[in-house]
Amino acid sequence: MTLTPSRRQLLPMAGHTRGTRSAATCHFKCGDACLKDEGSTSTSPAFAAVVEASLSRRNLLLGLGAVVAAAGSGAVTARPAAAAGAPGAPAAAAAGAGTVGPKGLAFTPIASVASTVDELTVPAGYTWKPIISWGDPVVQGAPAFDLDRQSAAAQEQQFGYNCDYLAVLPQGKNKALLVANHEYTNENLMVPGFTSEDALTDEQLRTSIAAHGLSVVALRQGKDGFWEVEPSKHGRRFTALSTEFELRGPVAGSDLLKTAKDPSGRRVVGTLNNCAGGTTPWGTVLSGEENFDQYFRGDANGDPRNRDTYGLVDKTGKVGTGRYWYRVDDRFDVVKTPNEINRFGWIVEVDPRDPRSTPVKHTAMGRFKHEGATTIVAKKGNVVAYMGDDTADQHLYKFVSRDRVPGRSGGRSELLDAGDLYVAKFSADGPVTTDRDGTGEWIPLTKDGESAVPGMSLEEVLVFTRAAAAAVGATPMDRPEDVEPDPRTGYVYVACTNNSNRAAAGPANPRPKNKYGHVIELREAGDDATGTRFEWSLLLVCGDPADPTTYFSGFPADRVSPISCPDNVAFDAREPGLWVSTDGAPSSITRNDALHFVPLTGPERGRVSQFLAVPTGAETCGPWIDAADGSVFVNVQHPGEVDGAVVDRPASKFPYSASSQRTPRPSTVQVRRTGK
Ligand code: FEO
Ligand code: CA
Ligand code: CA
Repeated sequence: MTLTPSRRQLLPMAGHTRGTRSAATCHFKCGDACLKDEGSTSTSPAFAAVVEASLSRRNLLLGLGAVVAAAGSGAVTARPAAAAGAPGAPAAAAAGAGTVGPKGLAFTPIASVASTVDELTVPAGYTWKPIISWGDPVVQGAPAFDLDRQSAAAQEQQFGYNCDYLAVLPQGKNKALLVANHEYTNENLMVPGFTSEDALTDEQLRTSIAAHGLSVVALRQGKDGFWEVEPSKHGRRFTALSTEFELRGPVAGSDLLKTAKDPSGRRVVGTLNNCAGGTTPWGTVLSGEENFDQYFRGDANGDPRNRDTYGLVDKTGKVGTGRYWYRVDDRFDVVKTPNEINRFGWIVEVDPRDPRSTPVKHTAMGRFKHEGATTIVAKKGNVVAYMGDDTADQHLYKFVSRDRVPGRSGGRSELLDAGDLYVAKFSADGPVTTDRDGTGEWIPLTKDGESAVPGMSLEEVLVFTRAAAAAVGATPMDRPEDVEPDPRTGYVYVACTNNSNRAAAGPANPRPKNKYGHVIELREAGDDATGTRFEWSLLLVCGDPADPTTYFSGFPADRVSPISCPDNVAFDAREPGLWVSTDGAPSSITRNDALHFVPLTGPERGRVSQFLAVPTGAETCGPWIDAADGSVFVNVQHPGEVDGAVVDRPASKFPYSASSQRTPRPSTVQVRRTGK
């Protein structure tokens, strides 16, 4: 059924979106975050201001004609004249010369793709195939996808919606386990005849709840090198509807986590808005609960530590509708079940190898809008996890385990149950070189099992972590998303996707038209990931390379691909170089979102080369890189998320199968080198 515009309810963000971002994206993806004020109350200068100071110092050097050799890299700090001198130049075409990429994944960069194009674009010599799509069977015996016969019971056995984090974990020759997050739902693209969210039936609401969570499926590699799902006892869904998680760590069992249905404060049903993630040294997967607030109907008179700090009311004081989930479950109503929301916003751990294992939520790692968590084993043996809170002007964190590897117990680890939680404070000080813009400090929020924040108890610090970070003067950041250490060097890469909301409204933003984000390189002092001091530099200041405010670590701007709104960062296990996927290029540089490759050392440092482009309305998620296999895996999230699109009037038909003609289906895709 095709809807007439007059019958469709305007989304709350219509008329309020920043730039050209669609109202559909703001509502379904971000929970209308732009209408809320969740900026940190920290008095520390915003990271944007620190960046401004650094860039000013860098520009001053350039204005004096200084060219400083970068330690160990041979690169220079000089900004190439081409970057400032060629506005309007066809950067994509200029970037396309030559072959780039690591061994096993050499490619000729593609030109950026207009944001209206409904194609998955890959380099010459590469071919792509979908592995699994929304609604495909996951659990053995699950029903096949049927757009007109959806149910919560079926969805609980099928691949969820809007796949985000992605891991492809080898399990011996030609076998692997695929783990995917399912971050959120677009009911307008899922439900035939959709009119408005409040018109959804209870069964449709339960189906949406079941479409959240994670999936695990077994894969087998065919002779052609492409991976396919095979029925397996490992097939498993973790959903927001019915999967029980164990709360662990210092806050488990505290009064703040107890509800009438769970007086223990240790068992919680479901996981929400699972965004990015990472693998652990012991083979499990971590997943971040991000914009969990949007599923709860707020309480105007409720605990301000949630109401204000975690976005349960908008700037006018209006409470959120919680996607109407409260209609099918009281726990999504903060008035009726005030503590339920405290049981979301954590880092989740699942063991894909054991289909009977109980998934965990780790309270020692703090509660905020977790983008994800990635781990590295420090020289001393402690496990260190890096984490971003993806909201404008929120913070960057790390967790250092108290105990050291191996510390294992079965398939999971107790290493994440106890440790110190830190938040980052940046300074622009000292000399500027290519790979150094300033220093920083990790400020403890918890230390040796106790609160390190004056006036806050341990459980308050861990449940209301944003307030704790603000209290110690953490640096407000430009939406830190994925944060990942390079497994070869331990250097940490922080994708700050943008801060356009703040930039439009706040005088402190040094790049008021900065809709494009940046990537920071962070180097722990003494290469000790457990330490409290670091140096940092700007690896990339993103945007159209013709824009003179962009910066690519000194690499000539006329030889890089346009890049905007970096979101996920990833490394291959064996081949050096950073992979960066984007979320927001359509609304900022009017190009489809992308996956890029960026060398980190030598004369190619900072050379951004575009590997692929996702279809219109989509975001590039995952990614998972396997150069030895000649494969790149990505999750194509929210294809066709374009204002006005509904089932039977889609903006995208991705992945272009018979079953996706009426509406697109978010999918995991393998891109494989098949030619020369
Ligand atoms: Fe779910 Fe911050 O992206
Ligand atoms: Ca993300
Ligand atoms: Ca990552």
